[in-house]
Amino acid sequence: MDTKVVRIDESHKDEALLREAGEIIQSGGLVAFPTETVYGLGGDALNPASSRKIYEAKGRPSDNPLIVHIADMETLPAIVKSVPETAKKLADAFWPGPLTMIMEKSDLVPKETTGGLDTVAVRMPSDAVALSFIRAAGGYVAAPSANRSGRPSPTRASYVAQDMEGRIEMILDGGDATLGLESTIVDLTVEPPTILRPGFITGEMLRQKLGRVEEDGTLFRADSGQAPKAPGMKYRHYAPEGELVIVKGAAAAVTDYINGRLLEGRRGHKKTGVIATDETIAAYGADVSRSVGKRADAAAAAKGLYRILREFDDEGVELIYSESFDGEGISQAVMNRLLKAAGHRVIDV
Ligand code: TXA
Ligand code: MG
Repeated sequence: MDTKVVRIDESHKDEALLREAGEIIQSGGLVAFPTETVYGLGGDALNPASSRKIYEAKGRPSDNPLIVHIADMETLPAIVKSVPETAKKLADAFWPGPLTMIMEKSDLVPKETTGGLDTVAVRMPSDAVALSFIRAAGGYVAAPSANRSGRPSPTRASYVAQDMEGRIEMILDGGDATLGLESTIVDLTVEPPTILRPGFITGEMLRQKLGRVEEDGTLFRADSGQAPKAPGMKYRHYAPEGELVIVKGAAAAVTDYINGRLLEGRRGHKKTGVIATDETIAAYGADVSRSVGKRADAAAAAKGLYRILREFDDEGVELIYSESFDGEGISQAVMNRLLKAAGHRVIDV
């Protein structure tokens, strides 16, 4: 299959291209599209065959449910049993935007889309191209992140092409994703509502609207002993080709420790990498050094993390040390993804 890659952006929104993309979805094909979080691999959410194709293109187990993307609030009632009050409040505050809500599904949504579950994950993205595309596609686009299973979520169209060339009909190139990490997922089918994946819409923001909101105990610890509630969380997540270790502690101690290990790695003829911040990057002696930006700028770290991880793989880095990102809000989402990529290997110095 030839994958057509087309450049499209808000200011040059090409109606004919969007119509073409929409028709591909409506006839059962797949189109990757930009969202404000990461690129999605879209298919018709109401067509079981399309969902099967998504799993195949991704190389993803079919019991891992997909997020259904919508563009208008009026389209929500048809795919859920009922719209909970909590969903109305959160939609008012955070949609369109980087929030996914889990609700009881209606019969319209096939089990192929929800990985066999009776619940459905729904998100209304804020990206203007995404919204136009979803409408052109008939209103319900099932989309996981557009990476092949085991790769970081793609934050630009060229990364989608690396993973999906020849496997899907079209890639809509809308430039770099503005946020860079996947949406927050909140389960509204349980009491209290529970965060299954941290993101830009933080626990604090959700609590302001709903009162009590819990966090799934598996989000930050590998040894919590609990089964993860989002099926996707149980799979081995993206892990870089090289060994990734997070180092935690006072800044100077972290730099010293990492430099010691880097030296050791290089003596062992390993290609080394480091993930640091603008404040510290110059202090490291790695083969490939990458800064996520200023330490205080968690949004920059979120935006750059997946790109950096892909670059390490592309450069064949074998041993990677990363500074730790503690803090509230977006830092938690950054740390959650970093911990997964590191297989929860953290060293306290
Ligand atoms: O930002 C995002 O959410 C991106 C863009 C494309 O919208 N999408 C995304 O999809 O990250 P994906 O498939 O890579 O991650 C979806 C996660 C998986 O961990 C999956 O298990 C969970 O959502 N999920 C989906 N439906 C669920 C459900 N009914 N119950 C619990 N977890 C669910
Ligand atoms: Mg994903």
